[in-house]
Amino acid sequence: MRTIWTEDGGNSVLYIDQTLLPYELRIRTARSWERLVQAIERMEVRGAPLIGVSGAWAAALAVADDPSGDELRRRLEAIASARPTAVNLQWAVKRMSARLSGLEGQERIRCARSEAARMAEEDVAANRSIGRNAARLLRALSEARPGRPLQILTHCNAGWLATVDYGTALSGVYQCSADGIPVHVWADETRPRLQGLLTEWELRMAGVPVTLVADNAGGYLMQRDLVDVVIVGADRIAANGDAANKIGTYLKALAARESGVPFYVAAPFSTIDFSLSRGSGIPIEKRPGGELREIRGVCRSGSVSTLRIAPQQTDAFNPGFDVTPAELVTGFITEKGVLLPSELLKWRPQ
Ligand code: MRU
Repeated sequence: MRTIWTEDGGNSVLYIDQTLLPYELRIRTARSWERLVQAIERMEVRGAPLIGVSGAWAAALAVADDPSGDELRRRLEAIASARPTAVNLQWAVKRMSARLSGLEGQERIRCARSEAARMAEEDVAANRSIGRNAARLLRALSEARPGRPLQILTHCNAGWLATVDYGTALSGVYQCSADGIPVHVWADETRPRLQGLLTEWELRMAGVPVTLVADNAGGYLMQRDLVDVVIVGADRIAANGDAANKIGTYLKALAARESGVPFYVAAPFSTIDFSLSRGSGIPIEKRPGGELREIRGVCRSGSVSTLRIAPQQTDAFNPGFDVTPAELVTGFITEKGVLLPSELLKWRPQ
């Protein structure tokens, strides 16, 4: 199954509503660009590569009623600003906009759909390559630690749910599983949106050994030699290798450095923002404080519901991402290979 696809010749975009997982697998349909923007804002679709492809499909829906140049520009700007940190969204909208420039009517609609579909396929192909590159690395680490499954810690969800398919950080885990390399994953819970539950769910569904841990358990595990490698995804990587990912990633990188555990970031090139020389320029999304005051789960009747865990008047600050400095990153697992932070610049498009 993929996270996003189309029906009705591209007039309908279907996606898994991730706000209901892991309790309920519900497919929703967007027939307008506004509905797809809302899905990105509400995090019904989430994860940098999936946000990018959703933005591309939103752009394809935005041209369906043949808007004027000014109106189309307004729509594309609204799509690009639905969430600020994952650069894949702006990257996708820019690419769509360049592809559509100079076209009109049916030709523009046809091109928009085929470009969005191409971007979805490219995402799948990039993630498969990331998985193969990661598996080579993980095999070597596993051979150095014979007699037990390789212990991998990940933060947030960078699995197939965060992409069109396969995932970034988890693509290597799936590849290891397919290659018979024994692995076990520690999945950080990832407060406040609990994306770690998505990681636990998708790995368990695939039969990969996985254990949920509270975010704060990472240091404990690393100190006790229970983690061989940390692999996370990224939402935006600056040209110097500073990498933004889900809030809490930086603390895992610090603990990994202190414990001598390698720390890898797995991401496609669409996540690298070569226009930023360092991570301090990455915009960090500030999510509503209400996400800290409430928690989502299932009640006894089985329906998904929200429970208040802090009084309404509690002041809460909720940055969605943090930036891990390049010096804490052992390497970037990309579709082009495993690169040192200092090697990224060599790949800057001319
Ligand atoms: O806020 P989210 O759930 O969209 O954040 C997702 C992450 O931070 C992921 O780790 C990142 O996008 C990498 S996804 C392959």
